[in-house]
Amino acid sequence: MNTNTNILVVGSGGREHAIAKALSKHPQTRIFAVMNRMNPGIAELAFKVLVAPETDPEVVKKFSVDNQVQFACIGPEAPLETGVVDVLIKAGIKCVGPSQKAARIETDKSFCRNLMKKYNISGLPEYHVFSSGRDAETFLKSSDKEYAIKPSGLTGGKGVRIMGEHLTREEACRYVHELKGDLVIEERLIGEEFTLQAFVDGSHLVPMPLVQDHKRAYEGDVGPNTGGMGSYTLPDHSFPFVTEQDYKKALMIMKQTVASLASEGTPFVGVLYGQFMNTAHGPMVIEFNARFGDPEAMNVLSLLTSDFTGLVKAIAEGTLGEEDVQFANKASVCKYLVPEGYPDNPVPGGVLIPGPANEALCYYASVVRDEEHLVTQSSRTMAFVGIGDTLEEAERIAEEAASSVKGPVRHRRDIGTRSVLDKRISHMKEIR
Ligand code: AMP
Ligand code: GLY
Repeated sequence: MNTNTNILVVGSGGREHAIAKALSKHPQTRIFAVMNRMNPGIAELAFKVLVAPETDPEVVKKFSVDNQVQFACIGPEAPLETGVVDVLIKAGIKCVGPSQKAARIETDKSFCRNLMKKYNISGLPEYHVFSSGRDAETFLKSSDKEYAIKPSGLTGGKGVRIMGEHLTREEACRYVHELKGDLVIEERLIGEEFTLQAFVDGSHLVPMPLVQDHKRAYEGDVGPNTGGMGSYTLPDHSFPFVTEQDYKKALMIMKQTVASLASEGTPFVGVLYGQFMNTAHGPMVIEFNARFGDPEAMNVLSLLTSDFTGLVKAIAEGTLGEEDVQFANKASVCKYLVPEGYPDNPVPGGVLIPGPANEALCYYASVVRDEEHLVTQSSRTMAFVGIGDTLEEAERIAEEAASSVKGPVRHRRDIGTRSVLDKRISHMKEIR
């Protein structure tokens, strides 16, 4: 009797390497992978890989059916948007990842805001949807408040511009004309950001530890926005700048959102990612994502002590319970190495020489293995995760590993340091 479980992982980044790593802990799980680019970390763990467009539902389906895949975990948002899950479900493959319609919570920001409004979900900032740059400009000129300007569709986290941070009002009035399609203009929120991710099986939601990402390219949170330079969690799975009341409110917002998608006839199955701004008046929703965050997945999956294969089955089959989900009460710090010049002018083709191995976990992203060398591409290269009883210990492990790599890459040394955490705490005290 064949007792193996065949599970497909879609995606080629650090997040998907972490997903594959978590699945690989179960001796009876056979990992299959479809990825745009060969990720050397996933390739090492997988039974079989296909390098092909992740966003092509027919390609993903054929590979899955040919290999008797039973479950699929979809890492990135792009395949969710093209309906990969809908096609796999029709072929009898159960998925951790929402249908194309449910994924609109991420892929269509005006859908997300209108849903929150319709169901009276709290944490909704003042927002306006425009379909022409001219109307958006007229609006901006009629107000003296500061706003966040966002294309309604996917931009890889790089299309958002904030007045008072990246743009003056005059620049904002020009920027709205550069954007194609609908755009959302929202009140600028002031506070401290945190991420709450949760496993969702359509109706039940089980939360993961809170994570804080670092979007800006350079130390001290300056420079352009990136996909995320690194992230950390604390042993109690919360942050000193998030009160119990803030946490409860954020969790309630997530639960209401899951319930509203079910009421719309498009239940959400997969990982719901809530990006919150903790403001003077509590947590407000910056956005939802319909998948794990990258890098945030590397923190939480490295801390997960329960069996991820069992969890995948429970999510995909609608039987998820609190008892399926346990995380170690430890701190984690994740630091991404990125090519010099990233994100604006990344220099690919850099040869990396790894340093001596330490306890850090290593996740590969946009990097190729060329005989014994690792060679950078133009996106985030690879990440190191340190786990420890304290933030200091986790940070030391991640920093030691990241700084030991020789080659044309850099990382943010400040991520996970006590001084950055103290800055967040005092900022929160100031605004409350
Ligand atoms: P997003 O692509 O929506 O995650 O936005 C990227 C980043 O822009 C977020 O992580 C925030 O730092 C910032 N941002 C987005 N919306 C707002 C807002 N309404 N107010 C202030 N900052 C925002
Ligand atoms: N780290 C942010 C994201 O995955 O969208």
